[in-house]
Amino acid sequence: MKFISVTTADGLKIIINLTKKIWPVAYGKILTMAQLDYMIDKFYNETALLELIDKGHVFYLAQDDNNNYVGFVSYELNSEPNKTKIHKIYVLPETQGTGLGRQFFELVKEKAIENHQKAIFLNVNKYNNAIHFYTKLGFTKVKDEVIDIGNGYVMDDYVMEVDILQ
Ligand SMILES: CC(C)(COP(=O)(O)OP(=O)(O)OC[C@H]1O[C@@H](n2cnc3c(N)ncnc32)[C@H](O)[C@@H]1OP(=O)(O)O)[C@@H](O)C(=O)NCCC(=O)NCCS
Repeated sequence: MKFISVTTADGLKIIINLTKKIWPVAYGKILTMAQLDYMIDKFYNETALLELIDKGHVFYLAQDDNNNYVGFVSYELNSEPNKTKIHKIYVLPETQGTGLGRQFFELVKEKAIENHQKAIFLNVNKYNNAIHFYTKLGFTKVKDEVIDIGNGYVMDDYVMEVDILQ
């Protein structure tokens, strides 16, 4: 597996295409199709993603041995003082369960440690099976968070966090 840093619209196009394959499977039973479409339109367009890069979000694509793109991760150092936030972590359905998610976490953890961060945290939908993945990695729930995203939709999340040993 290769990890490629994404800083341009070309890479973001690949991320947007992956999202359109991953999200309906990941969120099909949790969100309505209308909310799914709304969120992809609002958050996964080149302009919105470039703004995140400008704000300091770091994106990586994963490319497998056949040169296929199979997932992506984004994180932000010091999203809260000395804490790194994983904003996005998505693996293609056919590649899930093969260890890529853990590799993404290790990549973020390495960067976080290099930058003297003390914890990594993230938001996850309360009904998302990914909670079990995060628990396996050592994350615990620190609070509930309901975020209004407009159009009558909310994100009904847990915030989960793990301390990083240094
Ligand atoms: C969540 C996700 C990123 C995890 O990545 P992954 O490549 O599937 O996970 P890995 O293969 O690295 O799994 C690491 C460990 O977590 C466990 N795990 C992963 N998903 C799990 C699940 N749904 N339930 C229970 N355990 C799980 C694995 O069994 C593995 O344990 P092991 O190391 O003891 O074998 C990926 O499944 C995904 O993209 N899911 C859909 C999108 C999504 O929900 N993203 C998160 C948004 S907050």
